[in-house]
Amino acid sequence: MSMVSQESLRVFVVGASGSLGRCLAEEEAARGSNLVLVASDLRDLLPIQADLILKYKAKVEIVSVDFRESRASSKIELNGDRYYFPVGATMELDLLGTTSEKIERMMRVNFLSVASIIGNILSEPRQRRVDIIGFGSIAETRGRANNVYYSAAKRALTSLFESLRHGAKKENLRPYLFHVGYMRSQLSYGKKMLFPAVASKDVAKAVLHFINTKEAGIVYLPRYWYWICIIVRKLPWIIYQKLNF
Ligand SMILES: NC(=O)c1ccc[n+]([C@@H]2O[C@H](COP(=O)([O-])OP(=O)(O)OC[C@H]3O[C@@H](n4cnc5c(N)ncnc54)[C@H](OP(=O)(O)O)[C@@H]3O)[C@@H](O)[C@H]2O)c1
Repeated sequence: MSMVSQESLRVFVVGASGSLGRCLAEEEAARGSNLVLVASDLRDLLPIQADLILKYKAKVEIVSVDFRESRASSKIELNGDRYYFPVGATMELDLLGTTSEKIERMMRVNFLSVASIIGNILSEPRQRRVDIIGFGSIAETRGRANNVYYSAAKRALTSLFESLRHGAKKENLRPYLFHVGYMRSQLSYGKKMLFPAVASKDVAKAVLHFINTKEAGIVYLPRYWYWICIIVRKLPWIIYQKLNF
């Protein structure tokens, strides 16, 4: 497959007001890409847009969409070369006894937002290759009685990206899913963590480096999480069910 020239890239960042989204937007702006930033609140996007224009003279559009609403993804005009999806939300008590309303919200923001946009991109005729970059979580490794629906949504995302990888050649796309470990951000603020949290700027740089060197992939960032997740998956149930994390 031929590489798309960096200058001509039109890049969407869905979840651009978050820690990782902002860093990805900045990395792309520094490379000369034209940006479309998406989040629910224009008041968060406006200063990011102004900053990127000032620092990099970047061309930056902003779009406000609330993925908790049904059919929200159809409000976005999809004409990009590359799409990042650092969108996501957790909730305080994500437990087994969660109400249907909250479950629906979790699925909409963490899974259906990404799945519907990708579906819309691939259902339209396209001349050029497209890059699709999702962000999973180590939380999806094995079901727990905490973080129940966030993890379920992220597990669904993994299945979707496996399917994208399977159909990549036929659809003329490059799919990447980054399972993010502990990262310093609003999403992880105040959470109990077994390992040190990394900076979102470093995660963004690693993502860009991977995309520039590989055609597709499902990887862990930082990479050591791959081994930790293998161990967690292989733990006998009798031990796993006693863990409280
Ligand atoms: N932080 C971690 O430790 C960690 C660990 C594993 C995986 N991840 C994953 O990595 C990605 C980036 O994480 P992060 O820490 O940078 O997240 P973050 O700072 O919380 O940002 C999340 C983004 O999603 C957007 N968003 C949330 N709800 C939305 C809604 N209803 N409609 C539209 N946009 C919405 C937020 O914008 P608005 O709120 O303004 O709408 C924000 O731009 C996420 O997919 C996350 O699940 C993070």
